[in-house]
Amino acid sequence: MQIIEDPKLLRSEIKKRKQQGAQVSFIPTMGNLHQGHLTLVKEGQQHAEVTVVSIFVNPMQFNNANDLANYPKTLAEDCAQLEQAGVDIVFIPTVDAIYPNGLEAQTFVEVPGISDQLEGELRPGHFRGVSTIVTKLFNLVQPDFACFGKKDFQQLAVIKQMVSDLAMPINIIPVETVREASGLAMSSRNNKLSADEKLLAPKIAEVMTELGKKIQLNVKNCSQLVTEASLTLDNSGFKTDEIHVVDPITLAPLNEGSKQAVILMAAFLGSTRLIDNVVVNLHQ
Ligand code: PAF
Repeated sequence: MQIIEDPKLLRSEIKKRKQQGAQVSFIPTMGNLHQGHLTLVKEGQQHAEVTVVSIFVNPMQFNNANDLANYPKTLAEDCAQLEQAGVDIVFIPTVDAIYPNGLEAQTFVEVPGISDQLEGELRPGHFRGVSTIVTKLFNLVQPDFACFGKKDFQQLAVIKQMVSDLAMPINIIPVETVREASGLAMSSRNNKLSADEKLLAPKIAEVMTELGKKIQLNVKNCSQLVTEASLTLDNSGFKTDEIHVVDPITLAPLNEGSKQAVILMAAFLGSTRLIDNVVVNLHQ
């Protein structure tokens, strides 16, 4: 496995592999890898001969300096896992290499509408930061395929829209959320849970699944069902942050013709904000 820091070196290495006829799969990450990331790697390997993973904690997508400073860094463990998984190239650029003129001077990419709602409303500028870094990494890696987890549902929707709007010649591969046996969606944030919180955490997936079943049968009663789900979570020791039930492609409110809905949930367990989502077919 090659570990490359320099963007120029990355470009020349990828050019060489492409000249040899290889296609490239790309998995962008911010490190602190878990089974969910390794599943993205496995998926990428099914599509192309060369798999590239990037590890870059992107300052442009953080709107809280503390979150950025406290983002867990586990580079040695990450590289060991990627090597074991058979990754070909890990790209670990410095902030200076990516933003040589500073963040303020950086040209940005923004997907309108979809970036400003839901998670984007809570974290202004977050999806601009994501779209910009993903574009920049796409330009450096020039992948044929790029894998993104469905766990970050809105991020995936933003990236798909961006790739379509800007005619980027990249196949976006959405990958199912990996869950622990308890049903808890895997996330770097789970490491922050105490032992007691960890026992409680799967409840978010349980409440979401129940809510999904009820909405499928009675979408007209959606807001009442959401209120009940939120109360159930709060009574179990969570503090519900948001539950949205929206169109899975546009993330706009449902209408009478909607055939599917995505339930997007966020709830605090102590100071850890857990998120999860599920797409359901509607019988209306
Ligand atoms: O999902 C993430 O880890 C990040 O948002 C991404 C896609 C690597 C961009 O920094």
